[in-house]
Amino acid sequence: MNIISAIETRRSFRQFDATHEISEEEIEHLIALAMLSPTPGNTQPWRFVVVRDPVLRQEIRAAASGQTQVTDASLLIILTADLTAWRTDPERYARTTGPEMSKVLAKSMTDFYEGREWLQRDDAMKSTGLTAMTLMLAAKELGYESCPMGGFDIDAVGALINLPENHVVSMFVTIGKPLSDAYPRGGQLAIEEVLVRDRFAHA
Ligand SMILES: Cc1cc2nc3c(=O)[nH]c(=O)nc-3n(C[C@H](O)[C@H](O)[C@H](O)COP(=O)(O)O)c2cc1C
Repeated sequence: MNIISAIETRRSFRQFDATHEISEEEIEHLIALAMLSPTPGNTQPWRFVVVRDPVLRQEIRAAASGQTQVTDASLLIILTADLTAWRTDPERYARTTGPEMSKVLAKSMTDFYEGREWLQRDDAMKSTGLTAMTLMLAAKELGYESCPMGGFDIDAVGALINLPENHVVSMFVTIGKPLSDAYPRGGQLAIEEVLVRDRFAHA
């Protein structure tokens, strides 16, 4: 499938075949592809929580207003991020550039993030959002459909997965074989409303 077709046909599916099992190889393939998504300074702050335990899935579903995708999709990935990834052995993020350059780049990351918790969080959300899209498009190529999800109790889900300190829960991506069509598109806005050329007009 070419990328434009994948973008055009990706939809949010809500009913999945609970009997379909995804293999470990497919899961690792999807995560490996997701890991190629861009991140600031290559800090790769995402941590992909793949939930396979059926009891835990039920508990997470209860924290997501009972949405069936959580238990019925072949794959539930909780996208979390480590807000302090930028300071954990940061030279590894540019190790291929050699010791000198990787030190310089590591320092630039520290200068950028130190004391700016809001930016750490913003970038965690940008990075998880981008990898969510990679996952959903890769799922299409592998013959699956998906649903991005944010309708859940973030604190409850964090507690259920033992979210470590300095980590945040961003969103879920559920992936599986659909049992029914996606709802008709809600309708896209007119391009004139969302495409700004150069700058916004004065209010
Ligand atoms: C951050 C985010 C959170 C979402 N949360 C949910 C959710 O909890 N449950 C759900 O069924 N769909 C959820 N969606 C899917 C949207 O409803 C869907 O993307 C939107 O209606 C457009 O439809 P489409 O994805 O089929 O094009 C979410 C999407 C995003 C991006």
